[in-house]
Amino acid sequence: MGVEMRIDGCISVAIFGIICLSPCLCLANVEGDVYQNASNLICNRYEGRWVRDESYPLYDSSKCPHINRVFDCLKYGRPDHEYLKYRWQPHNCDLPRFDGRSFLTKFKGKQIMFIGDSISVNQYQSLICMLHSSVPELPILEQGRGHITNYTFQGYNVSVILFFSTHLVDIVNGKNGRILKLNSIENGEIWKKMDVLVFNTWLWWYRSGPKQPWDYIQIGNKILKNMYRMNAFKLGLTTWAKWVNTKVDTEKTKVFIQGISPKHYSGAQWNKPNEPNCAKETVPINGSTYPTGLSQASYALQDVLNTLIKPVQLLNITILSQLRKDAHPSSYNGIGGIDCTHWCIAGLMDTWNQLLYTALM
Ligand SMILES: *[C@@H]1O[C@H](CO)[C@@H](O)[C@H](O)[C@H]1NC(C)=O
Ligand SMILES: *[C@@H]1O[C@H](CO)[C@@H](O)[C@H](O)[C@H]1NC(C)=O
Ligand SMILES: *[C@@H]1O[C@H](CO)[C@@H](O)[C@H](O)[C@H]1NC(C)=O
Ligand SMILES: *[C@@H]1O[C@H](CO)[C@@H](O)[C@H](O)[C@H]1NC(C)=O
Ligand SMILES: *[C@@H]1O[C@H](CO)[C@@H](O)[C@H](O)[C@H]1NC(C)=O
Repeated sequence: MGVEMRIDGCISVAIFGIICLSPCLCLANVEGDVYQNASNLICNRYEGRWVRDESYPLYDSSKCPHINRVFDCLKYGRPDHEYLKYRWQPHNCDLPRFDGRSFLTKFKGKQIMFIGDSISVNQYQSLICMLHSSVPELPILEQGRGHITNYTFQGYNVSVILFFSTHLVDIVNGKNGRILKLNSIENGEIWKKMDVLVFNTWLWWYRSGPKQPWDYIQIGNKILKNMYRMNAFKLGLTTWAKWVNTKVDTEKTKVFIQGISPKHYSGAQWNKPNEPNCAKETVPINGSTYPTGLSQASYALQDVLNTLIKPVQLLNITILSQLRKDAHPSSYNGIGGIDCTHWCIAGLMDTWNQLLYTALM
């Protein structure tokens, strides 16, 4: 158990972590709030630093046939491999090592769904590779239909599913074009049947021009041509939070949401004002803080999370990912251009999944 974004009148603690009895022994907190007392008793898994670890990466990406060309950095010629050698070290505890077999055993007959944009695809494919490398002989049944990709680890009957959605709220075809409906989540009927849900949305809210996947915005009965995007993001996310509060049986379904995934297109943010992007980066930032702090989107997300009454765990990966200016594909991808938005597989996504694993096991 980690974060409980629960507000129950008396305590709402934004400490996302597990209780550690000693630096090496961390016990998951039982359902409920995390009480912050002697600081050495509390471990926030999301606060720490990157340390070199010769045993990394967790798997050989060339042996994982499930990586999209956007993320497959080694296949597309990335010459430096140092970025693969870092392990996330929380300040007051250790993350358990990922054990794919115990994960599959625990989730026998269950369905785990990632819902969101290409950052969700990124984390999804890393989890598939981590599980595949733990049990390489196990056949995977691959099914796909529209926005859904469903990989079932046979024998265990564990399905890891991707539901692609740019905004979480609906986009529908109307008479005069595509409508982004900020108050509506029709797909929720499929989502709420799952055992674990991992949400994410942000990347598409600021897109305009040909990359904008809608023509109008609808709020209730009002149709708008456009609006201040941060407000649209907050309204859409609030609809999601209301959906969780009213429609999800959180006794059956565990709900997670990713923090905002940072980009690295401006060296000034990491004290290299002459670098226009992440292309020259080969090592993480040493330390625990990123010079520019959190973006406005993280604060907006936090505001909405504060309105949840059901338990939702935040995978608060923003800061630890900010430190990884070296972990993007940059030019080593199969689509061309410099990409400092997505992340190489293997790499940082494996840590996001280790954190998800820690919260689930
Ligand atoms: C935890 O801290 C609170 C306030 O700082 C204190 O009142 C309480 O006694 C402490 N509990 C334990 C178990 O130390
Ligand atoms: C596999 O799990 C699904 C739910 O994910 C369930 O509907 C199905 O009956 C299971 N199949 C077997 C053979 O256990
Ligand atoms: C995923 O595939 C499994 C195995 O065929 C199936 O039982 C399950 O219903 C599928 N889930 C979704 C959401 O399509
Ligand atoms: C990182 O910082 C620590 C102290 O904060 C220092 O001991 C260590 O040598 C630094 N590592 C690198 C690679 O600069
Ligand atoms: C994540 O953690 C940071 C620092 O630990 C905190 O400032 C922030 O509010 C948290 N939430 C989000 C949504 O990033």
